[in-house]
Amino acid sequence: MSPKSPPSPEQLALRKCLGSFPTGVAVITYASPEGPRGATVNSFVSVSLDPALVLVSIAKTARSREGLDDASFAVNVLGAHQGDVAMHFAGRPNECLRVPWQQDAEVPRLRECAAWLQCAPWRSVEAGDHVLFIGEVVAHGHDPSDPLIFHAGAFRIDKPASPHWRPPSPIDSLDRRRDLERWSDAGSTTHIVPV
Ligand SMILES: Cc1cc2nc3c(=O)[nH]c(=O)nc-3n(C[C@H](O)[C@H](O)[C@H](O)COP(=O)(O)O)c2cc1C
Repeated sequence: MSPKSPPSPEQLALRKCLGSFPTGVAVITYASPEGPRGATVNSFVSVSLDPALVLVSIAKTARSREGLDDASFAVNVLGAHQGDVAMHFAGRPNECLRVPWQQDAEVPRLRECAAWLQCAPWRSVEAGDHVLFIGEVVAHGHDPSDPLIFHAGAFRIDKPASPHWRPPSPIDSLDRRRDLERWSDAGSTTHIVPV
């Protein structure tokens, strides 16, 4: 599939199949000449303990594809209360959102997350319409809070863990579903399957 061609019925069916695999949600953050940037991903996986390697798969059409070239980055595993942060970095910037940037971090990263990993660039590998960015973990931390979960094209929360959390209203849910479908229809990645 070329980056801009609409997905075929077979590709849509594959997306739906892949979406039955529940994942966490992370924001990959990095420095750019314009300031700190981030992109929401669910393609984050751990790769190796020795050396300590992790991987994210980024669509070639994404702005972060260039931003992550040979760049240090941070993986911010989102907590159950951070659905709004996920959407903010998924191409729907929310001017009213107070992005919880960690001010004194060496590599831009977010506060209030379930976990964070600071990574040095290790390798990148082209894989179809995506690039796999493999980073070596140089620092990390985590909080015993519940993670945000993505499954079948929607955010799931097993149980509310934070006083900031409120159940999404039906209208919020509809808006988010439309965003996820729009993002998915744009063919920017094959990681999410809208239902
Ligand atoms: C839950 C969720 C998971 C996503 N996972 C990925 C992913 O793994 N890789 C990817 O390239 N885009 C993924 N996206 C889409 C990007 O977040 C979106 O294209 C974003 O605008 C990229 O930002 P950028 O263009 O600044 O890099 C995901 C979006 C959502 C809502």
